Amino acid sequence: MSKPTIFLTRRLQPAAMRILEQACQVSLWDVEDQPCPRDVLLRGVAEAEGLLCLLPDRIDSELLEAAPHLRVVATMAVGYDNIDVAACSARRVLVTNTPGVLTETTADLAWALLLAAARRIVEGQRMIERGEWGPWYPMQMVGIDLCGATLGVVGAGRIGGAVLRRATGFSMDLCYYNRRPDPELEARTAARYLPFDELLRTSDMIVVTLPLNDTTRGMFGAREFALMRENAIFVNVARGPIVREGDLVAALRSGRPRAAGIDVFEREPIGADHPLLALPNCVCVPHIGSATIATRTRMATLAAENLVAALTGGPVPSPVNAEAVGW
Ligand code: GLV
Repeated sequence: MSKPTIFLTRRLQPAAMRILEQACQVSLWDVEDQPCPRDVLLRGVAEAEGLLCLLPDRIDSELLEAAPHLRVVATMAVGYDNIDVAACSARRVLVTNTPGVLTETTADLAWALLLAAARRIVEGQRMIERGEWGPWYPMQMVGIDLCGATLGVVGAGRIGGAVLRRATGFSMDLCYYNRRPDPELEARTAARYLPFDELLRTSDMIVVTLPLNDTTRGMFGAREFALMRENAIFVNVARGPIVREGDLVAALRSGRPRAAGIDVFEREPIGADHPLLALPNCVCVPHIGSATIATRTRMATLAAENLVAALTGGPVPSPVNAEAVGW
């Protein structure tokens, strides 16, 4: 039997390539650090039964039109806001993602940003680099304590739950906002449910771990920042468009929230002239929530396993729209 044809929008780690090459006939965009150009992608899927894609690849009706044989789109990410899942379902194309394997790694980054923003780590290094570290004085580079503070997680799913779990060592008071209360999460983490505005008013540290969708797009803007406590620390490791970036810049300039740690942006990648980079109270990193060697390797192999299982009739580890496509 001939192997199914697949297209990859990037070469993956050797462990994932082995899984794919054993079961499929592979063609790919073989440039590691540049996204697959749209025309290459559209040509690449013309014969493909499977597509393995990454965050920057837009999977929409135009692409599906160009891919008449497509049966599965496997993304190497937990978030799939770059994929029109309804359009895939309408054509009975299965979508898969990589949940679970990046939970702890992303929660670690949320904490790295919380600590960096609250204790002014990057600002301090920049001060030293500029040769401006003068003699010690009592209020030099003072920040905000995490220990004893109230931590509020907005969107406490897998990653948000792991963020809450890490707070034990900091003796924090914990709260969360989800569409509805989650008694299992409360039993596991001792976090209490608060309505959204109440969480914003109550929390000293706010971490966003929501998926991006029509409800969450633009959820944090001038109104929400104004509700926050004066010394609040705001961290976003979810998706950039959940935050109105212009409003965040204005809010950080006015000092409420006091500081922010941002992993994700409205339009990525950002340039060196992005206004958030000019703010001493904002720590910015380039969408690295899941970026450890072990986790990125596991994400790649899980995406490969999803793709191969979907094409060979095996149980698919993490389908997104199984029911809609009758999988
Ligand atoms: C990363 O942002 C992901 O969704 O996996």
